[in-house]
Amino acid sequence: MVKIAVLGFGVVGSGTVEAFDRNSAIIAQNAGHDIQVKYILDIRDFPDSPYNNLLTGDFEKIVSDPDVAVVVETIGGVGPAFDYTKRCLSAGKSVVTSNKELVAAHGYELLEMASANGVNYLFEASVGGGIPIIRPIAQCIAANQINEIYGIVNGTTNYILTEMVKNGAEFSDALADAQRKGYAEADPSADIDGHDACRKICILASLAFGKHIYPEYASHEGIRGISSNDVHFAGELGYKIKLVARARVLGDIPAVYVAPHLISHDNLLAGVDGVMNAVVVRGNIVGDLMFYGAGAGKMPTASAVAADVIDAVKHMKLRKLIGWEEGGEDSVADHMLLESAWYIRTDASREKISHEFGEVIFSGSIGSECAFKTTFMSGRKVQELLERGISALSLFRVLGDH
Ligand code: HSE
Repeated sequence: MVKIAVLGFGVVGSGTVEAFDRNSAIIAQNAGHDIQVKYILDIRDFPDSPYNNLLTGDFEKIVSDPDVAVVVETIGGVGPAFDYTKRCLSAGKSVVTSNKELVAAHGYELLEMASANGVNYLFEASVGGGIPIIRPIAQCIAANQINEIYGIVNGTTNYILTEMVKNGAEFSDALADAQRKGYAEADPSADIDGHDACRKICILASLAFGKHIYPEYASHEGIRGISSNDVHFAGELGYKIKLVARARVLGDIPAVYVAPHLISHDNLLAGVDGVMNAVVVRGNIVGDLMFYGAGAGKMPTASAVAADVIDAVKHMKLRKLIGWEEGGEDSVADHMLLESAWYIRTDASREKISHEFGEVIFSGSIGSECAFKTTFMSGRKVQELLERGISALSLFRVLGDH
């Protein structure tokens, strides 16, 4: 019998406890041991919970209990979660987490600490919820040189954009709807400003390219500025707008960024709607792989957490070789050097646009606004041309034609 503790009895923590209860037999069979939740740490009371008897507010009890071999951290954020994770690893306990903020900010340090203590730090649930993506990159396609990873890794913004495309909703109405349905937080900025997606692509890029990519050195742009005119013009040009997180090798290092993109209808991501997530990984041997599924939510995320616990239990005497080297500002390339076609919404005249950009494809007009798609060029070049007197009301990349 292996005992575990769950830190944080929120959505994912409670789902994880439920998963161990509901699927105890299959989990025991796959882990080779019965696994029992011995403690749940939370400062709140849950008098109606069937797991009330496992609740404690005392972290010291957990970290000092030699019976507890694996700790699940679902507190979130970088405050107590960071401190508790370090203390558990130092105490020789493996830690499993869904906390993308912590992995993105301190993954290198925590993986080093796990290594020094002969235990594991596993984080499959930190990207893509229930979608297997960390393990496939670390193991299944380990023989490949990965050239690019791109995907839709935030369900809230994908829901909002899907509503804007399918129902012609304005951003503010689609956001209010997402909040009513419980997808977006009361303070939705982590989702709609791209922070959450940025943390996730930084984790995938660290894993794929071997150096810690810190979110502060990546670039992120959210979806607040997308108007219904953008959706309309993009549709006329034959595209959907999606918030894409991307890491693409430029020279020896990856450009890592999050930004709205136009996606053609034949792209693998075009059909990924609502709160679903999908990640495309391009390996030099395997080609393109797409990982698709529920990127958030209680039980999908709990499924990934529980699988990591099984992995940690199976590797009690063996460290899983998952990790990367320390990184810094020079581990990330400037994404504005990446070439692509661009979508620009503007109120400049068509004559002026054609004069500065040469051959472009125009949308129709709404009032004084129109949009156009450029030929292939770097972000730097686009900026240079815009500075000649064209104000970009929106400026998005067109994904494709790699
Ligand atoms: N807020 C996140 C999303 C939750 O909408 O995708 C999962 O990380």
